[in-house]
Amino acid sequence: MGLSRILPRRLRAEVRLHQHNRQNRLGRVSQSAQSWYQITNIFPEALFEELRSSLANCPRLTRNEGAWRSGSALDGRSLMAGGGGLPLQYLSSNAFTSRIQGETGLSLTMVPEADVNRLSLLFYSGDPDRETGAVGVPRPDGCGWHVDGNIYLGQRWAGILTLKESTFDDVSKLELRPHGTTTTILRQGLENSLILFQGDHVSHRVRDLVSGEKRFVLSLLMSDNPIMTWNLWLRRYQRRVNRMFYGL
Ligand SMILES: [Fe+2]
Repeated sequence: MGLSRILPRRLRAEVRLHQHNRQNRLGRVSQSAQSWYQITNIFPEALFEELRSSLANCPRLTRNEGAWRSGSALDGRSLMAGGGGLPLQYLSSNAFTSRIQGETGLSLTMVPEADVNRLSLLFYSGDPDRETGAVGVPRPDGCGWHVDGNIYLGQRWAGILTLKESTFDDVSKLELRPHGTTTTILRQGLENSLILFQGDHVSHRVRDLVSGEKRFVLSLLMSDNPIMTWNLWLRRYQRRVNRMFYGL
């Protein structure tokens, strides 16, 4: 197909994405993108335990204490280079995408490896000063209500695979607000499950942890058309987020 036929289609997709992000900033989201799923038993039990213990004490976590989010994170490249690399390859496999499709009907793939958000490790603690040696921590670990930005031409699906959530609550610290209604997720059965939602349409938060609580998760980024935008403004936005989360 000639460039003259492809280009208009690409430009229309770029304009749509740009408008979508502008609407997001105004708090307007699509009512047809409010579905979410929980897929249980992602890894076989023995492999899950191995993965969880290898990632529990990851040494290269970057700490972030912003106005709306406090916690630690490890970007995808460092994560794959570390101890969990081998079991994590399953998340890039056809077997995994087939499982997602079988459970949800969605045809999603992971975004390209160049994106450090493709797969990352997020860590929240109720005692961040004790855990990290940080002095004068201004707020407990958690993340306020927000929707994500999208830098892909296709739908942006966020996946949260809980490795450990050790809290005093019956429900997860992760909460979603599809159609404006706060939805809680039972903590029982949460570990080794994947919560999948369109993070640029479904508002979400992580309630603040309190002393004695701990939570760490894998964050996945998937799309039905993982083509990164040409829009320099959106790419700059993503670089700012990456700097904040991972210090990159
Ligand atoms: Fe988010």
